[in-house]
Amino acid sequence: MSLHGRDLLSVHELSYEEVQEIFRLTKIVKDKQKNGQEHHILKGKTLGMIFQKSSTRTRVSFEVGMWQLGGMAMFLSANDLQIGRGEPVKDTARVLSRYVDGIMIRTFSHQEVEELAQYASVPVINGLTDLLHPCQALTDVYTAIEHKGEVKGRKMAYIGDGNNMANSLMYVCAKVGMNIAVATPSEYKPNESVVSGAREDARLFGSSIELTNDPYEAVKDADIVYTDVWASMGEKSKWHVRWQALARFQVNSELLGVAKPDAIVMHCLPAHRGEEITDEVMESKQSVVFDEAENRLHVQKAIMALLMGHP
Ligand code: CP
Ligand code: NVA
Repeated sequence: MSLHGRDLLSVHELSYEEVQEIFRLTKIVKDKQKNGQEHHILKGKTLGMIFQKSSTRTRVSFEVGMWQLGGMAMFLSANDLQIGRGEPVKDTARVLSRYVDGIMIRTFSHQEVEELAQYASVPVINGLTDLLHPCQALTDVYTAIEHKGEVKGRKMAYIGDGNNMANSLMYVCAKVGMNIAVATPSEYKPNESVVSGAREDARLFGSSIELTNDPYEAVKDADIVYTDVWASMGEKSKWHVRWQALARFQVNSELLGVAKPDAIVMHCLPAHRGEEITDEVMESKQSVVFDEAENRLHVQKAIMALLMGHP
């Protein structure tokens, strides 16, 4: 099935082949951009970008990406849109669909994005919800492939809060046949329905999804060690309570020493050095966090071209 005209709300909705198609086009557009070759696949197209939360990478990479593809992107802060004054999502979806060729949204509730997609007649891309961050997770696997080659059968260890990144990484690892071990405190586990959906895929593709509250067990023999902030945007619970529960889940040199010697370290960024990751690990040779950040641009260009381009 073609990706043309589709939404991208979750990696779980993609087939293995569709993920590979995104990665194939990513390489093409990345090479073209590096070689200074024009690649105006979305000439004359427009993307509306709704932001209910802050962003550096997502905003800039989508905006620059649209420009490089020959189109243009519009930053729409939810505070300035009528949506911020109570205009229903389903109305906003239909109005924006009359103007733009695609909508990217970053917000709190995943249901809001599903509703937007249901009523929009143009592709909707999830730029992060409390539940999922699919563009980041696809980028992470693409970056892992660049560094490690074939990722099927390799092991990722996710250490820390069972948040939108933990959920999305389980979905994407299962989809490409990577094993993932997720180590979180028992009170901050990943979403249960995501775990069961990812496990179904993992069975199909012959990989495993392991949940533990022991970070050392998770990183044992890992090829990729991944972490994310201990309090995500909009997290309401008290900081000191989270910090106490998460303190032993810091990615530091001692923990990294248990992974494979050539393991790479990933973080979606922004990072809080001294909390979920040490400055030493962030700056180490094993860290590929800035390659990862760069690849948001290339992967999202491929996603936009496939969803919003000509069939
Ligand atoms: N990783 C990521 O999505 O970063 P931003 O919050 O800066 O967009
Ligand atoms: N888990 C983080 C990811 C930021 C890119 C958050 O939701 O704030």
